Amino acid sequence: MKTMTCIEDLRQTARRRVPRMFFDYAESGSYAEETLRANRADLEAMKLRQRILVDVAGRSTSTTMLGEPVSLPLALAPIGLCGMQHGNGEILACRAAHAAGIPFTLSTMSICSIEDVAASVDKPFWFQLYVMKDRGFVRSLIERAKAAKCSALVLTVDLQVLGQRHRDIKNGLSVPPETRVKNLIDIATKPAWALSVLRSKSRTFGNIAGHVRGMENVNSLAVWIASQFDETLSWKDVEWIANEWGGKLILKGILDVEDALIAAKTGAAALVVSNHGGRQLDGAPSSIAALPPIAEAVGSSIEVLFDGGIRSGQDIMRAIALGAHACLSGRAYIYGLGAGGQAGVARAIEIMRNELSVSMALTGVTGIDKIDRSVIAGA
Ligand code: GLV
Repeated sequence: MKTMTCIEDLRQTARRRVPRMFFDYAESGSYAEETLRANRADLEAMKLRQRILVDVAGRSTSTTMLGEPVSLPLALAPIGLCGMQHGNGEILACRAAHAAGIPFTLSTMSICSIEDVAASVDKPFWFQLYVMKDRGFVRSLIERAKAAKCSALVLTVDLQVLGQRHRDIKNGLSVPPETRVKNLIDIATKPAWALSVLRSKSRTFGNIAGHVRGMENVNSLAVWIASQFDETLSWKDVEWIANEWGGKLILKGILDVEDALIAAKTGAAALVVSNHGGRQLDGAPSSIAALPPIAEAVGSSIEVLFDGGIRSGQDIMRAIALGAHACLSGRAYIYGLGAGGQAGVARAIEIMRNELSVSMALTGVTGIDKIDRSVIAGA
């Protein structure tokens, strides 16, 4: 893992090790992928301001998220099908996050269930909730998250309907993969992946199979989402969910100031400025372009988190400089997971930590709370 010097190295390795349909699933954005590309392009366009001869010996990347100490302003974002990047992927990623002192978020659409993960780690994790039409099932998911002692509920608010990802259709994405010749050849060339998945606790959607009738094998994710996810979801439901949950709530998927102002009044602990990694509304602004007005409008009343294109410590610094309290990243750790399981996720976090620490030193800041617009060149 030491020769993996950046997230791109992990990505290249994951691309060789993970079956194409699952690598593409994580990699893709919706439609023409304009927003996916804008997330990265707009971050890269922000230049950092080099400062010299500042004593930075005592600097620290530590801060808090939702009032809890974290060693780095970063949480692992919820990723559907994480356990299809590597067997037991959710457990391994959660262990790596906890060892690194940062939060892990388990997706509703995970392979390992809430209970599988809870039984395999010794600290609480965050649970991401999708709202289905069957509110009894939603309530049971919330109850299961409570029973697993999850420390925050991340409600995704930008996916009542699914933005189409062309490659998922072309690849025939399904869980587990269908026994088509193309898939068999692909899997045959990825023996380490196949072994890890064969040995894993689950090979289907662990939170759903066995809990929703007729959902033992959720073949087409897109079809399942279209039939089960609730298009009527509204702010009223957020209130209902907040009451059912009773704990710390994070609203993920806010891109507009007006929505942020409403979110800030719900009593949620945090919101995540996010366009779902460019996977939902194609043509929407990049997350980093959406961040400053939201941070300005509600940053003093709700914790503003950021996600969308984070691939380095420099990116974390850019988002914090524009008003984020901390970041979430999905693909960066998913590449690590595909490249090398738990060690790969640990490496992804370590890479971004080192980059952030060096970037802090070279911009002359010693603490996360000292990162502001002054670290951006020309700001
Ligand atoms: C689900 O959250 C997805 O983006 O596929």
